[in-house]
Amino acid sequence: MLFDIPLFSSFGSGGAYRIGVDISSSSVKVVELSGRGGKYVLEGYAVELLPKDLIQDGNISNVAQVGEALRRGLKRVGAHTKNVAIALPSSTAITKKITVSANQKEEDLELTVEAEANQSIPFPLDEVNLDYWVIGPAPNVPGEIEVLIAAARREKVEDYAAVAESAGAKPMIIDIESLAIQHAFAAIAPTLAGKGRGKNIALFDMGVNNTRFYVFHDNDILFSREMSFGGNQLTVDIQRAYNLPSGEAETAKKAGGLPENYRNDVLRPYMDNVAMEIARALQFFSTTTTFGPVQQIVLSGGCSLINGLDRAITQQASVPVVIANPFAAIKASNHVRAQQLAQDTPLLLTATGLALRSFES
Ligand SMILES: Nc1ncnc2c1ncn2[C@@H]1O[C@H](COP(=O)(O)OP(=O)(O)OP(=O)(O)O)[C@@H](O)[C@H]1O
Ligand SMILES: [Mg+2]
Repeated sequence: MLFDIPLFSSFGSGGAYRIGVDISSSSVKVVELSGRGGKYVLEGYAVELLPKDLIQDGNISNVAQVGEALRRGLKRVGAHTKNVAIALPSSTAITKKITVSANQKEEDLELTVEAEANQSIPFPLDEVNLDYWVIGPAPNVPGEIEVLIAAARREKVEDYAAVAESAGAKPMIIDIESLAIQHAFAAIAPTLAGKGRGKNIALFDMGVNNTRFYVFHDNDILFSREMSFGGNQLTVDIQRAYNLPSGEAETAKKAGGLPENYRNDVLRPYMDNVAMEIARALQFFSTTTTFGPVQQIVLSGGCSLINGLDRAITQQASVPVVIANPFAAIKASNHVRAQQLAQDTPLLLTATGLALRSFES
């Protein structure tokens, strides 16, 4: 049986609470939403920091320790359900969109998926978890449907599922980060100029060691690629400049209190470099695809909290920049502290996308 641990299964229709869990390089993020009929409430969220290097390049070196962080997060949130949606880092999974005849029995569709997977997946099928999801009718091709195939190494799927289980939660959905981000983007688009319609919109999700670059057009992903810069570089720059241990450099970066020359001598060159990388990525997109230029940039992830980075990017790329807010149309419950949420919002994209995703399946 290929589909033993679901990559895309559903919570079923019971229960109005949905939890998205983002197991990422620096922290475990938990978002609980409640709601029905497209109106959601943010019941609670948590960002539980992880020790450095516990998760590197999507490899979890100690499942129990990450599980403990998740357990704390669920407790802090006051979780109403044990059912959670988690995501695998996009780099550990392969996705492929295929178009097939709409008139297929489910068994036949499974065979088509397997045959397709056999061709495009670079490791033996008995080592992977394979799943598929019918996106809907193929645009402009009557009688055909689009199907998304996803595959990930079984050991990876099991590791991520084991984190949830060791925290006492049940991983009902195992998604892929890029798809969760796509769901979160659908919540962000209405907050953008012109409701984000009819434009190429770039999203840069800036993490610890890398940044994921996506281009959306009317909620479709046109393009995605991983870039190798992130927030850790700034921590390393601070360590070097002030001879600090990495933990202290990391804290000082977020909390402030560094010497006066920090802004000009350390932060400014870092920001200029990030802005340059982003401008180059946009250039690459517009010259190597036929989609035209990007008209709006959205930033997310911890680095988007760096004061002034948005302006540096606007200047370098000559494209307007906003910080991602997936909660514009989601009311926060009274338990959520508004001021803290405003600071944490750009960290919560993947977890929110996962929680939203679970409502729709
Ligand atoms: N207030 C802040 N100011 C500057 N940098 C910050 C701030 N908060 C977080 N960061 C940095 O952002 C990075 C973490 O961001 P984020 O939580 O989005 O990454 P992640 O999701 O753990 O990584 P990935 O998605 O790559 O697995 C770290 O390098 C952290 O130091
Ligand atoms: Mg992340």
